Amino acid sequence: MDADPPTERRISLHGEWSSRFAFILAVAGSAVGLGNVWKFPYIAGENGGGAFVLFYLLCVSLIGLPIMMAEILIGRRGRRNPVATMGLIGDEESGTSKWAIVGIVGIGAGILILSYYSVIAGWAFAYVWKGISGSFSGLDADAVGTLFGGLAGSALATGTWHTVFMVMTVAVVAKGVERGLEKAVRVLMPALIALLFVLLGYSMVAGDFAGAVEFMFAPRFSELTRDGALIALGHAFFTLSVGMGAVMAYGAYLPDEHSIGKTSMAIVAADTGIAMLAGLVIFPIVFANGLDPATGPGLVFQSLPLAFGQMPGGQIVAGGFFLLLTFAAWTSAISLMEPGVAWLIETLRVGRLVAAWALGLSIWLLGFLSVFSFNVLSDVTFLRGTFFDNLDYLTANIMLPLGGLAIVVFAGWIMSQNSTADEIDPGAGSSYRAWRFLARYIAPIAVILIFLNAIGLF
Ligand code: PHE
Repeated sequence: MDADPPTERRISLHGEWSSRFAFILAVAGSAVGLGNVWKFPYIAGENGGGAFVLFYLLCVSLIGLPIMMAEILIGRRGRRNPVATMGLIGDEESGTSKWAIVGIVGIGAGILILSYYSVIAGWAFAYVWKGISGSFSGLDADAVGTLFGGLAGSALATGTWHTVFMVMTVAVVAKGVERGLEKAVRVLMPALIALLFVLLGYSMVAGDFAGAVEFMFAPRFSELTRDGALIALGHAFFTLSVGMGAVMAYGAYLPDEHSIGKTSMAIVAADTGIAMLAGLVIFPIVFANGLDPATGPGLVFQSLPLAFGQMPGGQIVAGGFFLLLTFAAWTSAISLMEPGVAWLIETLRVGRLVAAWALGLSIWLLGFLSVFSFNVLSDVTFLRGTFFDNLDYLTANIMLPLGGLAIVVFAGWIMSQNSTADEIDPGAGSSYRAWRFLARYIAPIAVILIFLNAIGLF
């Protein structure tokens, strides 16, 4: 296989998606997750809203979108795990397989992210039962805080839910990603969107909707700090799942004939729309109840239950909402593991089952650093705060942007125009030229400037 000439199409070792729609669903399932519903509102709240949101939207469209396209095109061209693909295409295009490093760092980022992602997803799962059993009924802002504090503050409870979530994730990855995932995303993602719209109706009527719109969309540029700009950039990568090879791994299973540009735009639009929707649901409740928008990682868990506790049928809505959120997190978690598992299978020649459980076990253990960050180790802080805070900052704001930078420089500068046009649009039309301009100039320069700005160089 290694001797194939570059122009001959390769075949993926792990199967292919049944259709373009299946691929869109899988990447959308990866993109839409806790990043949209849990992280976006809380970091927007911590960074002053408006200007931060605007800056994030710019990062998504000018940096995230071209990088997503770069990942898909590289993945599809290589058709292997991200390490092998980067090595192979690097060798083909520039005579060095050292680019494989990008894949290795990406796998590391995926492992680190999943270790804390699973902890937060565990909370969402725990809230399914709290919601259904009526624990939210009639709670006020203080009581909601106490309820959340009880969960996060308990190493046993948080650790147990983290364990449950990791087992769920590994069980799917062990079976192979294409099967099952596709059908589930097809039904559950629209259900999550529909439920967010129902909640939006509630927030418009019962919350401080005008205040929320003002907070989210009126830019007060003086409130966007240097660090806030880097966090917005990092979140653009995190929410789109780019910069670590997840999309590259899925791109490896994309049949040749499908348009990369249209597919990526659809995914980016859906992901961004869901984040905006989540903000417009949560902030009206936050402001109407006098909560602090800068509450931190507990924001969704302390705002939505207030609404669920007051609305008619709130128990069902609460249970349904947190179940769909857990599901959205699950499809993201699967994609965080896939590059590592595909790599283990291809390199160590072990079976998928063994690879998935071995990697899952390591990630589960690592996850306890985050579990304990909210309870027994909450006083152990360094650099950015607890272990959890540091892991989150390191991965989302440093590793993903650097990985994305390497990927986009590779696609824009190292790969020949023929190779990239061949994947995106063999006619090299205007959309290809727009991509190439963003990939060569705008995205890399913007990432570098935001980094330099964050460390105070100008
Ligand atoms: N995009 C996912 C979310 O928003 C998280 C994720 C990041 C998944 C990186 C895969 C890779 O929840």
